[in-house]
Amino acid sequence: MQKEVIILSIESSCDDTSAAVLHNGKMLANITASQSIHEQYGGVVPELASRNHQQNIVPVVDAAIKKAGISLQQLSGIGFTRGPGLIGSLLVGVSFTKSLALALDIPLMEVNHMQGHILAHFIQEGKDLKKVPAFPFLCLTVSGGHTQIVRVTDFLEFEILGETTDDAVGEAFDKAAKVMGLPYPGGPLIDKYAQSGNASAYKFPKTRMEGYQYSFSGIKTAFLNFIQNNLQKDADFVNNNLHDICASYQQHLITVLLEKLVEASKDTNINEIAIAGGVSANSGLRKTLEELGLQKGWNIFIPAFEYCTDNAAMIAQVAYYKYLKGEFSDLRVVPAARYAF
Ligand code: KG4
Ligand code: ZN
Repeated sequence: MQKEVIILSIESSCDDTSAAVLHNGKMLANITASQSIHEQYGGVVPELASRNHQQNIVPVVDAAIKKAGISLQQLSGIGFTRGPGLIGSLLVGVSFTKSLALALDIPLMEVNHMQGHILAHFIQEGKDLKKVPAFPFLCLTVSGGHTQIVRVTDFLEFEILGETTDDAVGEAFDKAAKVMGLPYPGGPLIDKYAQSGNASAYKFPKTRMEGYQYSFSGIKTAFLNFIQNNLQKDADFVNNNLHDICASYQQHLITVLLEKLVEASKDTNINEIAIAGGVSANSGLRKTLEELGLQKGWNIFIPAFEYCTDNAAMIAQVAYYKYLKGEFSDLRVVPAARYAF
């Protein structure tokens, strides 16, 4: 008889406290507490994030265990995000995991948050089996802290082909929103306003980069200058043109992202193409990728909305494969703000 494998996972790398339960590879529960406190500050305040994780972690884990209908004693192991992320936020999840694993005398599996985003494509829930990418596939991983093109050859085999040399694309969304006076995180708001705007209304400059590398800091600065110059001429410029500004800027970022993905697909001869991470929730990116996929004959994989942004279900997915391979972490493991693949 197949051994029952039940994994609890914890995600606390930024401002979402999340816990999930996976039973023999099937997701039973995924509970996330998001922190709205940061909205008023225009970005995540690390100390506040850490304190909120401390308050949320026990109720969130408790809710996930109850929803899954299991007891703590049934757990086979616990997966946790070791990094990358905010050190104070990570520390809460890592400390909690270590204590619980020690108390239950079960193994713990450290997970790279970005690998978690990619394996979100393998989350299975409910009765129907979802179609998953075949190996090897390329994944454009786009979040608040990262922008990467990754070649994935197996569940735990990842190779970064290219990444941003400065800011992440999520940062380019959020900072642009802040300049326009929108609250944090601004990415979803730019997406919302862009839907009824003219994407050809304004043009923004491109930064030429080698290979599959990206750069967004120049684009961010160009956007800031664009807004300031126009505000000098017309104090109502942003209010009167919000939808067109958002649509044009968003389309520009999408074009930059997808140009490199097209090159990577051509050079590697890989037509299985996925996107992952918070920015993969962007409706413009999803739509443009679908159109591009039809045109190029790609098999496209776009995560369900709830698994684009930070969640513990994706962390459980990586932890599950590590559990099956016996890749356990030592109880002395510490969080890693920077944590390479
Ligand atoms: O993956 P994630 O939840 O956290 C990190 O690991 O960083 O990504 C958060 C990022 C933020 O920059 C947020 O603005 C962006 O994802 N984001 C979006 C959308 N939804 C979330 N950006 C553009 N359009 C969206 N719909
Ligand atoms: Zn993330």
